[in-house]
Amino acid sequence: MSVVIVYDSVFGNTEKIAEFIAEVFRQKHEVHLLHVSELNADVMKNAELFIAGSPTRAFAPTKNMVKALKNLKTNDQKHLYGAVFDTRMDIQNSNIKILKFLEKRKGYAADTMEKILKEKGIPFICGHEGFFVTESEGPLMEGETQRAKTWAGKIEAEMCKNEFIE
Ligand SMILES: Cc1cc2nc3c(=O)[nH]c(=O)nc-3n(C[C@H](O)[C@H](O)[C@H](O)COP(=O)(O)O)c2cc1C
Repeated sequence: MSVVIVYDSVFGNTEKIAEFIAEVFRQKHEVHLLHVSELNADVMKNAELFIAGSPTRAFAPTKNMVKALKNLKTNDQKHLYGAVFDTRMDIQNSNIKILKFLEKRKGYAADTMEKILKEKGIPFICGHEGFFVTESEGPLMEGETQRAKTWAGKIEAEMCKNEFIE
């Protein structure tokens, strides 16, 4: 199948997760790993799986990611499935009460990204996932790249159950 993985990243953490996800799919599938600025209609034409990843900034995806998802052209694809992920801080385990309060109300980048894609009628495989950084600029917490590979493996298994996907 043809897999498009698009990411945005300020400090490199989301890009790293995207690379680990791509590595899993590359074993059996055609993978297009693109920065959000490179996403284009041509690459989407044959896509069967679209995975988007963004850092969570102010409880939301980056502006460029929101714009790219809203502009995503999906009309031609009969069997396009989606999955999204973000990178984030472990706010629930922080001591900052206001952050916990806001996190409960506003959530993370992946929530918004999933909403945008579902509004476009893209069915989701394995929901969404968040990968943790230790400090506001990273690095990723230990074990998160392995968790990304496991998540990608689950998506791949679900996609391959689908009779339309080879
Ligand atoms: C200005 C700024 C705002 C941020 N806002 C949030 C936030 O609302 N929630 C959260 O969990 N992490 C937040 N973070 C941490 C980012 O999620 C973290 O920088 C990101 O995961 C790193 O990914 P990147 O290296 O791909 O940019 C923020 C970081 C910065 C610098």
